[in-house]
Amino acid sequence: MTEEIQNNKLKILGKLAASLTHEIRNPLSALKLNLQYLNMSIDKFSEEEAECIKASLDAVERIQILVDNTLTFSRNKSQESAAFELNYVVKQAIEMVQNTAARKSIDINTSFSPDIPKLKFNKDKILQVVLNLITNAIEASKTNSEIFISTKLNPDGSVILEVKDHGIGIGENDKSKIFNDFYTNKKNGTGLGLSVCKMLLDEIGADIDFTSEINVGTKFFVTFPKSLIEE
Ligand SMILES: Nc1ncnc2c1ncn2[C@@H]1O[C@H](COP(=O)(O)OP(=O)(O)O)[C@@H](O)[C@H]1O
Ligand SMILES: [Mg+2]
Repeated sequence: MTEEIQNNKLKILGKLAASLTHEIRNPLSALKLNLQYLNMSIDKFSEEEAECIKASLDAVERIQILVDNTLTFSRNKSQESAAFELNYVVKQAIEMVQNTAARKSIDINTSFSPDIPKLKFNKDKILQVVLNLITNAIEASKTNSEIFISTKLNPDGSVILEVKDHGIGIGENDKSKIFNDFYTNKKNGTGLGLSVCKMLLDEIGADIDFTSEINVGTKFFVTFPKSLIEE
């Protein structure tokens, strides 16, 4: 693909993201204000109800952060990177999709290596990457199945994140296309999830790859280079 076409696509993406951000921001603010209103009289509610309100407020806040920071595609204004625990970000992502997974009776099992050093990255961007991978895994899975997520420190100092599902898999002909902008085979898909993942990971020199077999499942793995380890 020529650079011109690629740049043009990024411009379209930028516009799409900008209008989406704009459209989402107002209703989201309204939602947050209402939840904050309920939260002001939190002691009027039962413990369970209060927990629901708090969890909703948390989720709204995270969406706000994602909308504001991640969908901007402002690649030049590189956002602050601080050192973060990958395991923590992955746990946060799992929490955000827990309801969606539960509705399909999908168990999300994990294995987190405890000895992963803190990595320098923009937390919201990595959260977006992990969310996209888990969301795809859930969408590809049948009901009553399992998704396995793991983190691992390699002997060479790089860090691997794996998201594995037992879903529909990716056909041989599609394998070379799934990272393309707008490539989707879902009725309501955007085809942007993986291309955004790739773009965000490229920014920090991390790699994304996958193996897949039709009707057996798919495994995505992200490799964070040793250079991201905080000194
Ligand atoms: N875990 C997965 N299992 C099977 N197919 C997948 C998986 N992840 C991605 N794909 C394929 O890659 C395509 C592109 O994914 P993505 O960029 O996230 O866009 P979308 O999810 O909107 O379709 C999907 O439509 C699907 O065909
Ligand atoms: Mg997707």
